[in-house]
Amino acid sequence: MASNDLQGKVRETLSEMEYAQDEAALRIVFGKAMSGNGWINAILKTIKDVPSEARKSFGQAVNEAKNTISNAFERRLESFKSALEVEKGFLDLTLESAPALAGRLHPTTQALRRICEIFVSMGFEVVDGPEIEDEHHNFDALNIPADHPARDNMDTFFIQGDIILRTHTSPVQVRTMEGIARGDDLLIRVISPGVTYRRDRPDRTHTPVFSQVEGLMVGKGITFSHMAGTLQSFAREFFGEGINLRLRPDFFPFVEPGGEAAVTCPICRGKGCPTCKRSGWVEIMGCGMVHPNVLDKQGIPSDRYQGFAFGMGVERITQMLFQVEDSRWFFENDIRFLRQFH
Ligand code: PHE
Repeated sequence: MASNDLQGKVRETLSEMEYAQDEAALRIVFGKAMSGNGWINAILKTIKDVPSEARKSFGQAVNEAKNTISNAFERRLESFKSALEVEKGFLDLTLESAPALAGRLHPTTQALRRICEIFVSMGFEVVDGPEIEDEHHNFDALNIPADHPARDNMDTFFIQGDIILRTHTSPVQVRTMEGIARGDDLLIRVISPGVTYRRDRPDRTHTPVFSQVEGLMVGKGITFSHMAGTLQSFAREFFGEGINLRLRPDFFPFVEPGGEAAVTCPICRGKGCPTCKRSGWVEIMGCGMVHPNVLDKQGIPSDRYQGFAFGMGVERITQMLFQVEDSRWFFENDIRFLRQFH
């Protein structure tokens, strides 16, 4: 038999094995080729008709054919076995793989975004300001005199000369008023979320880095009631129905009158719990009517324009929202903590 006939037979056998639907069919194809009375042996018997000088290569070709067929047989047999394992359930291809860890927003960022969303829905615009500030914007322009305790090194991180890390987001009030186009109907409605710094010793409610959201509204005929209404709406929208706002007098040099705003404790809903120190209220921000000196310094005549401002502590609010006892957790980057906030 010529060697291309041999090759043709091998190809035929390989494709028959490929088409065999089960192990039994495969064994039949294999037997037809390799058994004692299979076609390989039949071919081998023709060796006596082969000229003696070609016998060696003929023998080699037959051996190669045997190897090719045996290897293909083993492979195909193996594939039936693994298919059987899937069928028997040893190998469950429908099992879900371990879920990949997806990143998510930090709880403070989530709270911050929600705060911004609510004020944007009330017509406020989100503005940004620098974290590295000068004393002018952080203090002077806000009517905080040079001898005010807030200027003490104890609270402020100084960088160089009068360059500091801002101790609150209120300098953005000043920068907004500086940058606004002066017209007859000046109207400012901005909020400014951001990071602030104070030389505080970390404890459950203090960290040297923390976030605030500043708010400022300036226009004609803006009153204290506008402020109270705005903040009350915010509190209900953020913490839910049944939350009230309590305003009490407080002092900040850049507002007059100044206040401290508390909300019904969102955890016990006012009944009294450890978080609200049994008072039923939690303070979340400072606020007040923009001091005339602050407006006048920016060339906004305080006899024609009035406004209110507020500044809230985002970590405190986030603690309340997610019931986190210790605000230091927000800065530890512990994945076990962070994973809880979807
Ligand atoms: N900047 C003040 C603080 O950090 C909060 C505040 C903002 C108070 C605006 C009044 C008006 O404590």
